[in-house]
This record gives sequence, structure tokens and C-alpha cells, in this order.
Amino acid sequence: MEIHLQVSFSSRLTFSASLAELKGRLGGDSLFVIDSSIVHLFPDIPAERIFLFNGEKEKDFETVGRCLTWLLSCGATRQTKLVAVGGGATTDFAAFAASVFHRGMRLVMVPTTLLSMVDSAVGGKTAVNLAAKNTVGSFYPAEEIVIVREFLSTLGPVEKASGKAEMVKLALIRGGELARKVLRGDDLTTDESIRLAIKEKLEIVSEDLTDTLGKRIVLNWGHTFGHAIEHAYGLPHGLAVAAGMVLEQRWAEKAGACDLFPSEKVEYLLALNGVGTDTRTYIEDNLWKKLVFMDKKREFEKISIVYLVDLGKTGIICRDLNDILKDLEDLR
Ligand SMILES: NC(=O)c1ccc[n+]([C@@H]2O[C@H](COP(=O)([O-])OP(=O)(O)OC[C@H]3O[C@@H](n4cnc5c(N)ncnc54)[C@H](O)[C@@H]3O)[C@@H](O)[C@H]2O)c1
Repeated sequence: MEIHLQVSFSSRLTFSASLAELKGRLGGDSLFVIDSSIVHLFPDIPAERIFLFNGEKEKDFETVGRCLTWLLSCGATRQTKLVAVGGGATTDFAAFAASVFHRGMRLVMVPTTLLSMVDSAVGGKTAVNLAAKNTVGSFYPAEEIVIVREFLSTLGPVEKASGKAEMVKLALIRGGELARKVLRGDDLTTDESIRLAIKEKLEIVSEDLTDTLGKRIVLNWGHTFGHAIEHAYGLPHGLAVAAGMVLEQRWAEKAGACDLFPSEKVEYLLALNGVGTDTRTYIEDNLWKKLVFMDKKREFEKISIVYLVDLGKTGIICRDLNDILKDLEDLR
């Protein structure tokens, strides 16, 4: 199945029926960055055509340097296709390397976690970690994103829930068919659900590819508190964002936002779709609260927090960091 989405940059979204079909499609002259935990699925690719990537701990400049040196040693040109196969850490890393190799080589993403299928591989943001997470990156959309649902069969429940959390977020901020699925608690790992989530994200991103017009800010719902939680407790990205969605909604309630979608309902819908949030623990614990200042979207001392007004409708509250920190002391 192949779907063309009309966006301001050109990315082709393809659903491959199986891993075998994917292998048939990948050109023999491509080069690969593959997550080491799934490289055994590709015994037919010659070892010298693979750059083995060992996950988040290698999402750094030293490894980018090694990867670029390897590309040169392979005789790669701007026309060579670099195929990134792995979760969000792999696709962020490979996309960054592709964006700077000869100022940009061809790039194909094969995301292998649910989170990377619906989020990290979609939207053109690349990143590596320098001193902190995702501090360096570029905007470089892949020419093709290939979804192979078979990869999900080896994914653990926590990683699946992490991806579902971002899908629930997209559903609630956008409304529409994906939201209907979330309200019913339908299976979010079908090709149809994945396609809907990607479509919703691309529609937001296509209006503001380089994140300069403020249109992408709605995607940040749950991320101000979520990033602090992710950093404090080492939680998978989506699960931290899920807790962040409930807590930011709760904060907006306390901050006096009127007519808003109740935080309990956000928590219920996440749970209905298999995403636990454990917000009681975070409300009581202070560790993450001190890290809210790390928000990348902070403008001097002000932070903009997104909240849900209703299904498909968001609002934004801009507050002083110190006021937010004070509110967090009493979030109950
Ligand atoms: N670029 C963006 O817009 C964007 C958005 C959100 C998150 N991210 C980034 O994405 C990363 C998180 O993504 P992630 O959750 O996919 O993390 P990940 O890439 O670290 O993968 C999570 C784990 O799953 C394993 N794995 C991958 N595919 C598998 C499979 N098919 N079966 C079993 N195990 C598999 C990996 O080895 C890893 O241990 C972070 O680095 C985050 O910064 C980027």
C-alpha cells in the first residue's frame, strides 16, 4: 500500500506488507544505519554496507564522526540512499548524519518502534545529544518513510505504550477519525491507526516545517512536564509525555483555564488505550519539578504550556517559570 500525502515538503509514506517485502524493495546500492538489537533480521545485507548503531548512548557527535567517515570509505555520494532502520534514536541520528553528509544525501526511514513510526521518523527533525538531549540537530525530512508493522511483534509492552501515548496526544489535539478510535479504545497498532496518526502529525508539521511560525507548539502538549519527568526518572519518551499531558492539564485547571477537557478524562483515555500514567507519584515527588526549567521552548523566564480545551481544540498559557514552579508545589 502506498499513500501520497500533500505536504509542503515531499515525503512518501509507504506501508510494506512484510519484512520480506521490505528487503525486496531496498536497493542493493543503499547504505544502512541499523539498530544493533534488530540487525539479525537483515542477514542478507553485507556487513560492510551496515553502520551498526547501539542506541541512545551513541546518539552523539563522536558516533556521527565515525558514521560520516564510514560513508566516505564506502564511496557514498549525495545520490546514495542512506536507510535508517531502528527506533527514534536511530532515525534521529541517521537523519542528522544524512543531512550533513555533502550537505545532504538521500534518506529513507524504516522506523521499527511504534513511537518512531508515528512521531520521531515523521516531521523532519533530526537530533544528536551534546551535553543534554537533542541539543543539536537539523530539519531534514526523509524522501520516504516505510512502515513495516511486523517490527512491532518484537516490541515490549512498555515500548508499545510509549508509542500509543503519542498517538493519544495526536488524537486529542486533532479530533477526527483517530480520536474516534482512541475514544473507543480500538487497537492503535493497525496500519490504519498508524496511517491516521502520521497524517495528523504531517498536517501540523507541513504548516511549519522549521518550527518558526509557532504552529507546531500544539505537539508540545505534555512535553514541558514530560521532558522533566523523562530526565528525572529515565522513563521512555512517550510514557513521560503521557504523565506530562495529565499533569499539564491538571496545572491548567488550577491556573484557571476555563472550559477545559478534564484531566481525569485525559488520564482515563490514556489508560483505556493501555498507557499508565502514575501521576499520583509525580504529584507527590519533587525531583522532576526542579527540571521544568530545562524546557527547550522556554523564552527567557517564560514558558508556554499547551492544554486541551476540547477534543481537537487546544489553548496555550504563557507564565513565568517561577510561578509555574510555585504552582507545582501544590498540584494535588
Ligand atoms: N525527531 C523527532 O521528532 C522525535 C520525536 C520524539 C522522539 N524522538 C527521539 O526518539 C527517541 C525515542 O524513540 P524510541 O522510543 O523509538 O527509542 P529507541 O530508538 O531508543 O528504541 C527503544 C528500544 O527499542 C529497541 N527496538 C527498536 N526496534 C525494536 C523492535 N522492532 N523490536 C524490539 N526492540 C526494538 C531499541 O533497541 C531500544 O532499546 C529519543 O532519542 C527521542 O529523542 C525524536
